[in-house]
Amino acid sequence: MQVAVIGAGHVGLVTAACLARIGHDVVANDDDLAKLEQLRAGRPWFHEPGLPELLAETIAAGRLRFTADKGEAVRHGQVIFICVGTPSRADGSPNLQYLEAVAREVAQALPAGSFRLVCEKSTVPVQTGDRVAQVIAREGPPAADYEVASNPEFLREGSAVHDTLNPDRIVVGTDTQRGTTLLAELYRPIVEATGCELLATDRATAELIKHASNAFLATKISFINSVARVCERSGADVELVARGMGLDPRIGVHFLKAGAGYGGSCFPKDVAAFAHRSAELGVDFGILRETARVNLAARQRVLDKVRDALWHLAGKRVGVLGLAFKPETDDLREAPAMDVVRGLLAEGAEVIAYDPVAGDQAVDLLPEIKLAPEPLDAVEGAHALVVMTGWPELTQLDPVVARERMAYPILVDARNALDAEAFGRAGFTVIGVGRPVRNALTPAWR
Ligand code: UDX
Repeated sequence: MQVAVIGAGHVGLVTAACLARIGHDVVANDDDLAKLEQLRAGRPWFHEPGLPELLAETIAAGRLRFTADKGEAVRHGQVIFICVGTPSRADGSPNLQYLEAVAREVAQALPAGSFRLVCEKSTVPVQTGDRVAQVIAREGPPAADYEVASNPEFLREGSAVHDTLNPDRIVVGTDTQRGTTLLAELYRPIVEATGCELLATDRATAELIKHASNAFLATKISFINSVARVCERSGADVELVARGMGLDPRIGVHFLKAGAGYGGSCFPKDVAAFAHRSAELGVDFGILRETARVNLAARQRVLDKVRDALWHLAGKRVGVLGLAFKPETDDLREAPAMDVVRGLLAEGAEVIAYDPVAGDQAVDLLPEIKLAPEPLDAVEGAHALVVMTGWPELTQLDPVVARERMAYPILVDARNALDAEAFGRAGFTVIGVGRPVRNALTPAWR
């Protein structure tokens, strides 16, 4: 099938490459000429495992092309995915100006008499599709044959390619059988290969499924972070509490990892946007305000723990391991680590940070950060070590060597990522999240 993707960001580019991978003929459009040049050379402009290989394969097979010309993309695609950004405004509402602008351009390029399914993939508030349809009705040629649909993505950064090709479900929100049939045909290779459910709904329901899913997952994280606070006051261990809860299939083990809270381009924005849209519709969704408040408090707690351990931060050297908002990505948007680093610097600490891929970008944003080329360089002479992102490679850090290199053996593990017992045995005071502080005197758990 011929497909167009408007917007070659995290969502659009992964969608385009995966649809090309399963055999479709895809044209991806973006306004940024420099990005397009890089993409034509097979190089994604962000870190995403598996994506460079996928680009190389699909470009070489002639199934993925890039263009700056929206009209060309619209003429090509029987299905046209809109994957533009919907950044937050100060009041929490998403800025949908780009979406409107793209809808207008798509409308103006619609060919007369040939059906086009214009599909929102960007996360948008419920009923945004009505607005998109209105713009197209006003701006498109009178004889245009089209439908506006919603087909939200559920991919996670860091495993986006895998998630797209192995989804838990595919949600298609259309108002006609023709639209549903077309999207079912588009996704047939994935449904056949994985057996995942294709859930067909109306458009508003599909839009809402996306916001409700992300808001629920974010709430789960804030819930366990609140449980972690109670654990810290009572001597319980949140890791085991989460496990004990998660074994109940009604609760599930996923997204019950206590830590420094959620970041990234989706959860903070989507929680705020869903609360805002609910309020517009006359619904006070108070849980979401609390979810966001608890989430920001989790970052503040990390800073408080470092200060509690060191007394004054001025003149202290703090090693920070991990800057990206989660492992396997170089995305720093809303990253808890960046707020913690800002706080440390503001109180006069020197910050030496290591991240496998996000270091340079972090220094662009906060030039005061000193970058460590390896994790061990971040511990050198440090008065405390703070783990902010649970990169798997950090678990290789040898506690005995780290102990020798540091000024004070203090580990604040904001992701409960390192082996607390091993660090405790090596002489560290280990301050995790929602678990008792460990040190050399703490008896082994078992
Ligand atoms: C999320 C959704 O998972 C995805 O379905 C949607 O399409 C986009 O938003 P993403 O933002 O890439 O994906 O990351 P995700 O893996 O969901 O993690 C979000 C944040 O929550 C990260 O900062 C992560 O560290 C944090 N998190 C996640 C926790 O603190 N605890 C958990 O148990 C899980």
